[in-house]
Amino acid sequence: MASQTLTIRKPDDWHVHLRDGEMLIRVAGYTARQFARAIVMPNLVPPVTSVEAARDYRKRILEVTPPGFTPLMTCYLTDRTSPDEIARGFSEGVWVAAKLYPAGATTNSASGVTDIRNIYPVLTRMEKIGMVLCVHGEVTDPDVDVFDREVVFIDRVLTRIVSDFPELKVVLEHITTSDAVDFVRSGRVAATVTPQHLVINRNAMFAGGLRPHAYCLPVAKREEHRLAVRRLATSGLPNVFLGTDSAPHERHAKESSCGCAGIFNAPFALESYATVFEEEDALDKLEAFASVNGARFYGLPLNEELVMLERAEVEVPHEIERIVPFHAGETLRWRLLA
Ligand code: DOR
Ligand code: ZN
Repeated sequence: MASQTLTIRKPDDWHVHLRDGEMLIRVAGYTARQFARAIVMPNLVPPVTSVEAARDYRKRILEVTPPGFTPLMTCYLTDRTSPDEIARGFSEGVWVAAKLYPAGATTNSASGVTDIRNIYPVLTRMEKIGMVLCVHGEVTDPDVDVFDREVVFIDRVLTRIVSDFPELKVVLEHITTSDAVDFVRSGRVAATVTPQHLVINRNAMFAGGLRPHAYCLPVAKREEHRLAVRRLATSGLPNVFLGTDSAPHERHAKESSCGCAGIFNAPFALESYATVFEEEDALDKLEAFASVNGARFYGLPLNEELVMLERAEVEVPHEIERIVPFHAGETLRWRLLA
């Protein structure tokens, strides 16, 4: 009989949106319960573009999370980001990575980068100091079909970044396509994978009607892409790791004539990943994906604390903190023990 419990090092979340203010207070505990560390996205309003803003934001997160949780901060890159500011925040230990949002690609990305050449001096410095670049890999050209934005980004932008900056450490985040999978398998970049892109394909957005809670960016793609992403995530490859992209929005902001992109998956993220890894007969690879590969990539120590998952059904509520969570109303087969 298959083992009924699974004990692994405490995982880290290498991509999460913790928001700010009242929403931060509502959601941060869910991430801190599951993860020892988390790479916190900087797409606040206004975005986190300075060392001081990142330091202040980190303090606000620490005030509302239990001891033992470590938020790892990121710098939001704009056309005007200065290489010196980037290097200062890195050497002072305020941020561990910088985030590239192509301007207009997603929530609060209006101040993002309009042309990759505008940040070449920044990338030069990051390559030199060994700082990680986290990439939202979608072009924003309105002529490009929404479902092709990731593959076109890889062709037009990412291949240039990696050839012009051969030593730069790059994470292609929340990958959704077999094209991204192939690029990551080549080994030149790392990737994070979300629970939703392992579980849903694009049909989920239209199942019996329009389903705003299945909408995130990059959008889920065809089934063949989901299957390719699943094979990669469960492969054990060292450059592939966990990043939930948990992105809470108020219910009314999702259920709207112009609904926000983002899926709130933090409350049951590990349960969701474990269910997928079991379906792929790859539970032995879960610890590498969730707790080892990311830390090694970022050059951080592995967590010593352990967590235990039990093979037991867990019902996901329809609403948590007045937000509709991922898997709402469904039953998952693994439970994270307190
Ligand atoms: O679905 C998403 N939501 N994708 C992103 O890239 C941003 C995020 C958010 O901040 O809501
Ligand atoms: Zn994100």
